Amino acid sequence: MPSPYNPAMDTHTINRRKFLATTTAVAAGALALPGVTRQASASTPTPGTSATQPGSFDFIHLTDMHVTTRRKGDQGYRKCVESVLGMKNKPEFALMGGDLAFDGLYTPKAKYVEQVRLYKEISDSLGMPYYNCMGNHDVLGWSGRRKVQATDPDFGKKYIMDALQWDRPYYSFDHNGWHFAVLDCIYPTQEDHGTGYEPRIGDEQLQWLAYDLGAAGDRPKVVMTHIAAFCNRAQIRGDPEISGMPPGIVLRDTAKLQAVLERHNVKALLQGHTHRPEEYRWRGVWYITSPAVSGAWWAGDFTGAGPGYTVFHCGADGELTWDMLPYDWDAQLELDDDRERERNAKAHAKREDQVRLRDLERAVH
Ligand SMILES: [Fe+2]
Repeated sequence: MPSPYNPAMDTHTINRRKFLATTTAVAAGALALPGVTRQASASTPTPGTSATQPGSFDFIHLTDMHVTTRRKGDQGYRKCVESVLGMKNKPEFALMGGDLAFDGLYTPKAKYVEQVRLYKEISDSLGMPYYNCMGNHDVLGWSGRRKVQATDPDFGKKYIMDALQWDRPYYSFDHNGWHFAVLDCIYPTQEDHGTGYEPRIGDEQLQWLAYDLGAAGDRPKVVMTHIAAFCNRAQIRGDPEISGMPPGIVLRDTAKLQAVLERHNVKALLQGHTHRPEEYRWRGVWYITSPAVSGAWWAGDFTGAGPGYTVFHCGADGELTWDMLPYDWDAQLELDDDRERERNAKAHAKREDQVRLRDLERAVH
């Protein structure tokens, strides 16, 4: 099993977080739920009264893998898969948090198509079911920098959904007495240049989610989104001028989503997008941003956080625990990656300085 992930000091010490279920015991007398399929789609959930007792199992959350041959990112993703396959306790499935392909917003279509193909090929090698979540970079051309015509038949979410046999952009499924919902927060907008997007769940999907979670009754629940509901970017950067909900970084309808999660006793919202591992607890819900599989888009660490992922353990008593794990991958920079080299050198110097200061401060006693 790989060493656990600790972005703060870039060490390999355990960073386990655990919380107890606040629900009462799940109804006994269970109806067996159907097994999950690899690409689940939204369906009429099983009524909550027929929930099984929660089972005990592990799953993984891989997000922001941005698969590309640039910086040998495809080889990096294969290393990540190797790390997962080497785990002692085999996860039963993977939640894929979005930004699966490096980019479809401003990348030529042929490259994007190859990125999606590689994502599928490498993800298939996990040998377990995996559930895709839409990231902003998974969408073809919803940007003023698009390299395709808006009339392209694969414009928007169509190409990646077809390529991955992905029926509905948001959906839910059950696994061993636990309920999972996957959201699509890439909400289309009309801009001067044509179709764009903003981070929003939208009222229609929120209504679907509310009834989906309601129908799941007392089953413990986990929800996944690409763009975060909570992100402490300003605090991380130490910049009091950054707004609390920076455009493009945080969902525009966080408050509405939060209310739905709270009233249905959701254990955790799994987030991605910022490439900054975070955890935040508010009114009984954990908001967890996993490390990006690609770190800084395959250019090394991003704000002190290297490539990694999160393993979750679902307990039979409704407990959810997790570890953020690094895996072994050194950035393979391209010749023109001068900015990234400079950034990595600065980050390295900062880490060294932290060690120097710590040793100095300890030596005083
Ligand atoms: Fe990303």
